[in-house]
Amino acid sequence: MSSLWGGRFASGPADAMAALSASTHFDWRLAKHDIAGSRAHARVLNRAGLLTDDELEGMLKALDALEADVVSGAFTPTIADEDVHTALERGLIERAGAGLGGKLRAGRSRNDQVATLFRMWLRDAARRVADGTLDVIDALVAQATTHSTAVMPGRTHLQHAQPVLLAHHLLAHAQSLTRDIERIRDWDARAALSPYGSGALAGSSLGLDPAAVAADLGFDGPVENSIDGTASRDFAAEIAFVLAMLGVNLSRVAEETIIWTTAEFSYAVLDDAWATGSSIMPQKKNPDVAELTRGKSGRLIGNLTGLLATLKAQPLAYNRDLQEDKEPLFDSVEQLELLLPAIAGMIATLTFDTDRMAELAPQGFTLATDIAEWLVREGVPFRIAHEAAGACVRTAESRGVGLDELTDDEFTAIDPHLTPRVRDVLTVTGSIASRDAYGGTAPDRVAEQRDRLVARLTEH
Ligand code: ARG
Repeated sequence: MSSLWGGRFASGPADAMAALSASTHFDWRLAKHDIAGSRAHARVLNRAGLLTDDELEGMLKALDALEADVVSGAFTPTIADEDVHTALERGLIERAGAGLGGKLRAGRSRNDQVATLFRMWLRDAARRVADGTLDVIDALVAQATTHSTAVMPGRTHLQHAQPVLLAHHLLAHAQSLTRDIERIRDWDARAALSPYGSGALAGSSLGLDPAAVAADLGFDGPVENSIDGTASRDFAAEIAFVLAMLGVNLSRVAEETIIWTTAEFSYAVLDDAWATGSSIMPQKKNPDVAELTRGKSGRLIGNLTGLLATLKAQPLAYNRDLQEDKEPLFDSVEQLELLLPAIAGMIATLTFDTDRMAELAPQGFTLATDIAEWLVREGVPFRIAHEAAGACVRTAESRGVGLDELTDDEFTAIDPHLTPRVRDVLTVTGSIASRDAYGGTAPDRVAEQRDRLVARLTEH
């Protein structure tokens, strides 16, 4: 085993020890970031007078060659390499010779290395996730624009509540997904500090400049505290939460798509490219994209809670437990990179049956609140107005008709204030147009909301 720590040991590790310890099957993903970190480290060693200019040049050449071989697949870890850092040091020494290659490790530890590389990998991954989320938002906004005046029954408790614009509903999902993108941005500002130079925990005695490495690797600066830099993983837990929240928000879009495409609802039809069939039932068209989204959102929550449990009560500074930090995050990112383009495609190609949604919009007495609020505008106290509107529902329900089908006499019998003018608010479009305060469902307000959202997204 080409170990980084053999000196004080008389024997190599037992097979089961090595098998437990090995992490290259997942941390190999950090190889490119590890090599970038090595370049930056070589430069500060040079600046500190620990590598001559010639040695630096030779080191950088060897790192370039190593990177090319990593990218092409010519260099891969072996079962003897404990982790990505061990494997890449072996690769460097194979290319630069032990004399030069062996100098790179001065003043750094795998503890500060891995904490830095993981931040770098996550910052790149979070940017990709944000881009994928933006595509989902774009699909929602495009549908909202296409259907700018289509109406639907808005629901609470899944029961018909009040009519709303389909665009208003779709943009509600876009709002929460936009916050997910903003959360990624907020997180990045905190994650943008480099632990490189923290060493094993106490910092470096070799005159290396952590700020120079940080700048070289695209960080805003170095961490304040070398113990914290090597021991903390709240940057990982925080982005795991953001990704889980994104999964949960996507699961709500997914759940509604599943419901909307049932025979009972028939609000929408899935495009063939984003649905699957059944091996036995020839008629089936299943919403698997949405179901996998719903399912995987549970997995993302699991990745968050698993990581928090791993971190809980670990004494400072580095403990090997921390090696367990990477797989949950790699998995959450991998799952989202599969999900996001599929959800975007599914939403972009949904065909809405807006006639059916319009037909259902007033059903279930969704205009009852409009009667009560109309009475309030006529000077009736809301408590009495609410009772009167409820009585209208009771009468209409017992006759099996809609609220707009009550007779003038029926209205006045319920409350003398209920003159025929109440019929003005007993249409879906009238009800929707009347909700024209900021953030409401009136068409102009929804169009403004969409424009503000698009503007907010282009700021990013
Ligand atoms: N592979 C380890 C990790 O992912 C880094 C190695 C630190 N090992 C050590 N014995 N200090 O956390």
